[in-house]
Amino acid sequence: MAHSPAPTRYDNPDLYRRCGRSGLKLPAISLGLWHNFGAEHDYANSRALVLRAFDLGITHFDLANNYGPPPGTAEETFGKILHTDLAGYRDELIISTKAGYTMWDGPYGDWGSRKYLLSSLDQSLRRMRLEYVDIFYSHRPDPHTPLDETMGAVAHAVKSGKALYAGISNYNAEQTARAAKLLRELGTPCLIHQPKYHLFDRWIENGLSQVLLDEGVGGIAFCPLAQGLLTNRYLDGLPPDARAVRDPRFLKPGHITPAKLAVLRALETIARRRGQSLAQMSLAWVLHNPAITSALIGASKTRQIEENLETLENLKFSAAELAEIDRIVDGAA
Ligand SMILES: NC(=O)c1ccc[n+]([C@@H]2O[C@H](COP(=O)([O-])OP(=O)(O)OC[C@H]3O[C@@H](n4cnc5c(N)ncnc54)[C@H](OP(=O)(O)O)[C@@H]3O)[C@@H](O)[C@H]2O)c1
Repeated sequence: MAHSPAPTRYDNPDLYRRCGRSGLKLPAISLGLWHNFGAEHDYANSRALVLRAFDLGITHFDLANNYGPPPGTAEETFGKILHTDLAGYRDELIISTKAGYTMWDGPYGDWGSRKYLLSSLDQSLRRMRLEYVDIFYSHRPDPHTPLDETMGAVAHAVKSGKALYAGISNYNAEQTARAAKLLRELGTPCLIHQPKYHLFDRWIENGLSQVLLDEGVGGIAFCPLAQGLLTNRYLDGLPPDARAVRDPRFLKPGHITPAKLAVLRALETIARRRGQSLAQMSLAWVLHNPAITSALIGASKTRQIEENLETLENLKFSAAELAEIDRIVDGAA
């Protein structure tokens, strides 16, 4: 039976934050479909994750052409959920997709050419059974394609109505400033940048955050929990159902060293003092950066989404807490 979304889903208006200087608001916590939504995963669980998120007011779902595995199947799964359960709710959803990493064989299935980006967007729309996405991203800068070609393709996606807003991901501060200028000149301002950002990877503080604030571009931080490291997931060993064990393509058991665990335990002590879990404090910390509109989480269980949303109950940090966190994290470097 099709799902009936919870009538309480918009009961917390504080969940929504303006994305840069645009008219669009995004939930402070958004759900990404990089892991746990491919054809190899349990459809019932993937469906439960999306529907629980929506019931809790999470209106933004982030995809990319290559999410799976196999690549493309996360979009198919999401399309099926949309079609069967959320068909009447398209106007309540912000759906993003991207192109930029290897997707198909030959010279036109990768990087940043107009040929690749626009063909890929058409494929994504077919897989998700959508007429348009809300945000279309250039997934990474391409050193061999002129930036005006890549931005021209993203702008064309918007002007053709196949996307409502333009986005970029993994661009550094200088590339972002140039991309934002080009997109503005093309009449399709850059809505959002999607960088990696978490307690152990603060590269955006070295220039990009300021560019986003100056340009009025929103920020959505990916892997805010360092793929699960910045949670209680690994504090007592390697659970068989955790990402580092189940799908160690990116987060590997070797990353979970005794030194890292000592840092995580020290951070957890601060989180407990704040009345939060380590995951909640890590998300609050990401959202504390004024350039960040939304923390883009992944999840394998609905209770993780529930726990992560409760982060919003305490987003404030004292200067002493921030300094203590810095000392612990810097000590780990
Ligand atoms: N633009 C890009 O280049 C790029 C790159 C990577 C990701 N992304 C986007 O960012 C999204 C999020 O990435 P991510 O999945 O790595 O994010 P993440 O939030 O850092 O990690 C998610 C994982 O953390 C664990 N987790 C989450 N909440 C938890 C909690 N409360 N307690 C215990 N464990 C918890 C789960 O691991 P278990 O599975 O072990 O339970 C979950 O799968 C992706 O889906 C994608 O949309 C974008």
